[in-house]
Amino acid sequence: MTPNAERFLADLHSLRSFGAAGTGKGVKRRAFSEADIAARKWLASRMEEAGLEVHFDPLGNLFGLGGERSLLIGSHSDSQPEGGWLDGALGVVAGLEIARAAKEAGAPPVSVVSFQDEEGRFGVLTGSEVWAGKLDLAEADTFTDEAGLTLAEARRRMADVAGDFLPQGRFSGFLEMHIEQGPALDQGAGRIGVVTDIVGIRDMRISFTGQQNHAGTTPMALRADAFQELSAFNTVLNDRFANVVTPQTVWTIGHVALHPNAASVVPGQVTFSMQWRDGDAERLGRMAAIIRETAEEVAAARGMSVSLGPVMGIEPQAMHPQMQAALADSAGALAPGEWQKMPSGALHDAANLAPLMPTGMLFVPSIGGISHDFAEDTAEADLVLGLQVLARAAASL
Ligand code: GLV
Ligand code: MN
Ligand code: MN
Repeated sequence: MTPNAERFLADLHSLRSFGAAGTGKGVKRRAFSEADIAARKWLASRMEEAGLEVHFDPLGNLFGLGGERSLLIGSHSDSQPEGGWLDGALGVVAGLEIARAAKEAGAPPVSVVSFQDEEGRFGVLTGSEVWAGKLDLAEADTFTDEAGLTLAEARRRMADVAGDFLPQGRFSGFLEMHIEQGPALDQGAGRIGVVTDIVGIRDMRISFTGQQNHAGTTPMALRADAFQELSAFNTVLNDRFANVVTPQTVWTIGHVALHPNAASVVPGQVTFSMQWRDGDAERLGRMAAIIRETAEEVAAARGMSVSLGPVMGIEPQAMHPQMQAALADSAGALAPGEWQKMPSGALHDAANLAPLMPTGMLFVPSIGGISHDFAEDTAEADLVLGLQVLARAAASL
């Protein structure tokens, strides 16, 4: 089975034309946007041309089936609001190329998948989480994006192609190739990473409500200013985390909605995302308790009210030893001295599949460690090397 590097790169560049942002190679292809749905339908047509059986499930997860039971290779093709061209897309197109090459060679079948909403417009890795049976579809349907659109409403946009959920037992294992999205390979072995573990994540929405008022007439001492509240919360939280976190722990307030968001109005309400990640589930729990206590204390101190949304999350996951060994053996043969084992600080669909079937992940470097930005990129020689390492591992499995 020999993957065709030119065809793989051509497909990868074609996929980039769906939702092309016009800034570098970046894309805007959020889950269930017009560009995302058009990209999924184009991918489906490429799968069909490759002789794979196309299947969309109720969540918009797209499968290209190579046989009754097979290895599954893939990732996601939705993007962040300002996404790079490779995040997810690389793993889907690599899966397509290997499934196609396997068919051409008459090798054992390989199937390909593009999971939906990996980037968490509605949940966290929503498509693979529902397919894996970890999240109920009815519950997921109530999730909203920042503008209040529910997943149930968004899913209707793909109702014309949706079939049933596929049984998980159709697949003997899962491999995902992805860009690293950080600086470790760039600063380390250089070209290939074999993932040992994927960190766990927790994510919630928090709101502080005070009193909206006139920015000229309201004395400072009488204000219940939601922005000042968020600022105080952030400062106290960073202080308290210092006793609990390690240098690998990360936390982010990445989305903030201030109401009414006007220069001459004391803001009455702020709603923001609070996300934290670590390889240790117990530490994630301790951080959750600190977030809750801090929010309640800081709100009480200023006479504000606080609302804490549900905590969503994915547990830390180790990659399967057999998959790690196959990928490491392949990396050793094709990239001697230029590969390393490493954990993943980014979330991946592989974390949802690992409890169901032997699962492995392969990284290629991100230039400058940049991702979730239009500037994200990887040298094409590294993309092709990754494809070859993955194909060799798939063949050995
Ligand atoms: C997935 O893109 C993540 O945020 O790790
Ligand atoms: Mn990704
Ligand atoms: Mn991403």
